[in-house]
Amino acid sequence: MQFRTVSSLDDQKFDAVIVPVFKEGDATALTPAEIKSTAEWVAKQGGKRKLFTPSTHLQRDMDGDGPGDEATRLVVVAAGSRDEFNVERSWQFVSAGVRSLWQSTAKRIGIVLEMELVEEQVAVQSAVEGVLYAMWRQEAYRTGEDERQLPPLEEVVLLVTEHAAGDGANGAVSRGLAIGEAVNWARHLANEPANVMTPTKVAEEARAMASETGLDVEVLDEDACAALGMGSFLSVARGSDEPAQFVVLRHRGRAGDGYDLALVGKGITFDSGGISLKDPQDMHLMKYDMSGAAAVLAAAGVIARLGMPLNMIAIAPCTENLPGGHATKPGDIVTSMSGKTVEIINTDAEGRLVLIDGISYAQREGATRIVDVATLTGAIMVALGRHYTGLFGRPDGFVDFVRRAGDQAGERLWPMPISDEYRDDMKSEIADLKNSGGRQGGAILGAAFVDAAVDADTEWAHLDIASTAWFEEDRAFSPKGPQGSSVRTLVQLAASIAARQS
Ligand code: BES
Ligand code: MN
Ligand code: ZN
Repeated sequence: MQFRTVSSLDDQKFDAVIVPVFKEGDATALTPAEIKSTAEWVAKQGGKRKLFTPSTHLQRDMDGDGPGDEATRLVVVAAGSRDEFNVERSWQFVSAGVRSLWQSTAKRIGIVLEMELVEEQVAVQSAVEGVLYAMWRQEAYRTGEDERQLPPLEEVVLLVTEHAAGDGANGAVSRGLAIGEAVNWARHLANEPANVMTPTKVAEEARAMASETGLDVEVLDEDACAALGMGSFLSVARGSDEPAQFVVLRHRGRAGDGYDLALVGKGITFDSGGISLKDPQDMHLMKYDMSGAAAVLAAAGVIARLGMPLNMIAIAPCTENLPGGHATKPGDIVTSMSGKTVEIINTDAEGRLVLIDGISYAQREGATRIVDVATLTGAIMVALGRHYTGLFGRPDGFVDFVRRAGDQAGERLWPMPISDEYRDDMKSEIADLKNSGGRQGGAILGAAFVDAAVDADTEWAHLDIASTAWFEEDRAFSPKGPQGSSVRTLVQLAASIAARQS
């Protein structure tokens, strides 16, 4: 699939042209006059429409010289009100438009971009991403013919301002491709069934991705983890016959030692709850409990592919959480890599157990700025619903910095508190820590547990993506299933750190 930016759609034939129309009634400013009047008329006839609802119409006269041209499908997408338009909407309207072309034979499409309300480069990058997101579908293990037909897109032409057209847009297109492909890869990792996407398979995928992007890769097996004292991580792996894998990716983008950023992702390839077995309802979805690992691996790939001028380490401790004969039992006490002992109250609170050893490893490597990403708690969904990622950390300045990166990347993060009362709730009577502190404020308690592994002078943010990693229903701009949550935020964060340093 080829992307091109042009400042006029004249003399070009398209199978479809996608146009956003605002709630106020006007199509985006760059829309050519002939298309604009039809698009606005179409939008008006449709009455009040839900955000991103696409409707398609045939436009016969594309160049204003009267009917006779080949018919083009006009895809009018409801883009919401002008003053709410932002980065997020600029990929979402594109994605909704392209998704409406599923089952069609569209090969060559045009997209009219909105460039007044978001930065031009950002508009181009988001459009490229939006197309890629719309072209993702899960691998289906079906033996019959696949009824879900993607359009056979060959060329995507983006209508942009004269100023942004041509070679000047190359950077934005490359960024869009790198991020779009990475997000789709993260979705793939999270979506594959747990009997396919085992810890070993995640490590293999990471290796292949690393050799494509130029990342340095190292995978520690259980013996290597034991030698480092990762008793907390390994306690989760005990109940499973699948060997645990501790994946480490490194990117050196500037001269000198140390890391400017460490990313740690929860990689539970299946979470049954262990001995504290989960309810069967929705347990099958726990294949996506490695979405945090997927996000950090994918983001690391983009950081390397774009050659960002910073040093980064990404860590993904991967294992299943199963109730085998050797499984860790409630009441067991284990020693984490930090030296702190943990009483395991509930074997279903396993994410925090793998994260703390991942964080200790990052600190051992010299990292002083760490972001962890995890489908950590059901409680974050109770707190925030399904539209925001929970954001925790310290100090506040760093948490704000991460949140701004999310804003710039078009992902929603909402700051949550941690204070000593919650930290106290995670203290055990018999060990330094316990891994479960009750139901109330569960997302905060999970974060407060992880906090105990983070050194006092380390900048740390914790993203609880249990709310945003997986959609339970189709939305116009995205199918139900894995969303690749937080990849964009992590990439933007790396870019912001690199920019601040140079
Ligand atoms: N992986 C789950 C959290 C989760 C639940 C993610 C639903 C996505 C959807 C996590 O390991 C877990 O089981 N957390 C427990 C913690 C509790 C036992 C302290 C939870 O949230 O109930
Ligand atoms: Mn669990
Ligand atoms: Zn889990």
